[in-house]
Amino acid sequence: MKVYITRRIPDAGLQLLREAGIAYTEYTEKKNLSPEALIAACLEHDALLSVGGNRIDADFLDACRHLKVISLMSAGYDNVDVPAAERLGIPVGNTPGVLSNATADTAFLLMLATARKAFYMHKRIARGEWGFFEPTANLGIELNGRTLGIFGLGKIGMELARKCRGAWDMPVIYHNRRRNREAEALLGAVYVPFETLLEQSDVLSVHAALTPETKGVFNAAAFARMKPTAIFINTARGQLHNEEDLTGALRSGQLWGAGLDVTNPEPMRPDNPLLDMPSVAVLPHIGSATEEARNGMAAIAARNVIAGLRGEPLPFAVKS
Ligand code: DGY
Repeated sequence: MKVYITRRIPDAGLQLLREAGIAYTEYTEKKNLSPEALIAACLEHDALLSVGGNRIDADFLDACRHLKVISLMSAGYDNVDVPAAERLGIPVGNTPGVLSNATADTAFLLMLATARKAFYMHKRIARGEWGFFEPTANLGIELNGRTLGIFGLGKIGMELARKCRGAWDMPVIYHNRRRNREAEALLGAVYVPFETLLEQSDVLSVHAALTPETKGVFNAAAFARMKPTAIFINTARGQLHNEEDLTGALRSGQLWGAGLDVTNPEPMRPDNPLLDMPSVAVLPHIGSATEEARNGMAAIAARNVIAGLRGEPLPFAVKS
C-alpha cells in the first residue's frame, strides 16, 4: 500500500506510516502541484495525504476513484467536494482540535499587534524613521473590557474567547449556525444575530468554515455596520471577506483596523495597500504553524490514512 503526500510533513506522521508498513512518496518541490500532476501521481498510489489546499473536485475524484482514502492535513476541507467523494465511497479525513490553541494564539497575536500598530512600527524602525518621542503619535487602542465578537464559535473560537476573557476581561458575543451552550455556560458568551455582532463588536474575529453561505459575508455592507473603532480579525479563510471592501472600509475610516492570517487571494501580493496601513497586521497563513500543532496534525493525518487503507472507519472523518 502506498500513499502520496503533497508536501513534506513532520516526521511524527511519517513514523506512524512506516510503523504501519505503508510506503509513501512526498512531493518536495517548492511550487504547487498542478491538477494534472496530482492526478498522475495519485494513479500510482492507493491513498492521498493532501497538504496545502489541493483542489479535490469532481474531476479529480472521477479520475482517482481507486483511492481508498483522502486524508487532509488541515482542519478546513473547503477544497474538497465531500458529497462527490461520498458518492464514490472514498472516505475523507481531516485534523481538527490539535490546531485550535495555535490558531487562537494567532488571532490573539493579531488583535494586539493591530491594536498597537506593531507591525507598522517595526517597519518604520527598519526604514530609519524612529526619530524622537512624540506623545501624540503612534497611538493604539487598549483591548481591556472591549467586546469580543466571534463569527463561528467552535473549538478555535472557544480558545480565543477563553484567552481574551483572561487577558482583557472581554465580554463575548457570537453568531453561529447553532447555539454553543458550552461557551454560554463557561464564558458567559451571548448569542446574537449577525447584524448585532457587526454593530456591537469592538473586535470581530472570524472562525467559521468557508461554505457557500459564509463566502464573502464580510463585504462593504457588513463593514459599514461595524463601529469605526472596531478591529476585524480573520484567521479562518480569506474568502470569507472581500479584500477590496475591507481596504475601502479601512481607508475611509469606517473600520479602525484589521489583522489577517488569511488573505484573498493567497499569497497576498507584496504591493497590496493593506501592507502599508498602520493599523493592519498581516501574516502568511501560519495559524497552525507550531511544532505542537503540526506534529499533531501530521499524526492524525497518518492515522486517517492507516485506517482508510485497512478499510476501518477514520478516526477523524469529514461528512457532508
Ligand atoms: C487548516 O487546518 O484548515 C489550516 O488553515 C491550514 O490549512
